[in-house]
Amino acid sequence: MSDTQDRDRDLQPRIEEIPERQDEQHIITTETLGFLIHPNIATTSPTAKIADIGAGSGSWLLDVAKSLPSTCQLTGFDITPSAFPPPETWPSNLSFKLHDMFLPFPASEVGAYDVVAVRFTSSVAAREEWARSIANLMTLLKPGGWLQWIDSCNFALYNSTPGTSRAACQEIYDGLDPFRHKADPVIGLMMREARNLRRDDVFRGLGLVDVHEDVFSSDRLQDIEGKARDKATRNIMVCFLACLEGLVAVEGSGWTNERIERLREKAMKEIDEGVYHTLDQVCIIGRKPDAAYH
Ligand SMILES: C[S@@+](CC[C@H](N)C(=O)[O-])C[C@H]1O[C@@H](n2cnc3c(N)ncnc32)[C@H](O)[C@@H]1O
Repeated sequence: MSDTQDRDRDLQPRIEEIPERQDEQHIITTETLGFLIHPNIATTSPTAKIADIGAGSGSWLLDVAKSLPSTCQLTGFDITPSAFPPPETWPSNLSFKLHDMFLPFPASEVGAYDVVAVRFTSSVAAREEWARSIANLMTLLKPGGWLQWIDSCNFALYNSTPGTSRAACQEIYDGLDPFRHKADPVIGLMMREARNLRRDDVFRGLGLVDVHEDVFSSDRLQDIEGKARDKATRNIMVCFLACLEGLVAVEGSGWTNERIERLREKAMKEIDEGVYHTLDQVCIIGRKPDAAYH
């Protein structure tokens, strides 16, 4: 790995994820997108093999398992087992394995999967780093298999009541800047981005075909009383505060547990007073060409 590649990876937050927060985020995301696997991807084979990369608590994979025949095989990979559900709860056709998505996969996994799905693994990925992980994940695909990448981007904060503060929520957002200092960022915890980042070009450049990108705003759904956006705002602030906790041990970061706790209290009060955020859920899909293409 080059120095640049090392530097890029060092800037990823290493957070202790709370499985319950991930599960709630899963419900909110699935409501926003309206699907687990993009409708352009046919999963009709009764022996389909599905991989979930950065599976975390496995909420996505477990729900996919419920939607497919029990003859399908599902595998969740993650760099840490900390959020994996207890093995005794895994359905017989589903398992979790330890693996870093940037490292080569064992020969037994290569070319084995019909669908490889990734969701919310990038805090902020630079284009080159993102392409490297995609190229590695493509090795898992059978010819004709699909890669699906879901991530959130384009964060923004709003007031809903005149005269209320959003300073604490903004301070949390700004605190994530150390993770954003990457050349040519393309996906992840980015504030609203006016440019077309041409993520689909990265997929096509790596040889994927039938590439399609959907972008869904978190306010896509009718939410007259604002309950869903209140829940989503609290959920994301808990996630961001956990990222900031990872900076406490970084010398000179300016972050202490006391500062984070003060901010948590103030941010939740701001949300009580109507402050909310929106984000975009980006879903990009692409298919590995069939063997006949070569
Ligand atoms: C925010 S959680 C998302 C979990 C799950 N994908 C979901 O959507 O609910 C991010 C997950 O990505 C995992 N992760 C981060 N970097 C990874 C890497 N290089 N390889 C594999 N997993 C990784 C983390 O351990 C964590 O479980």
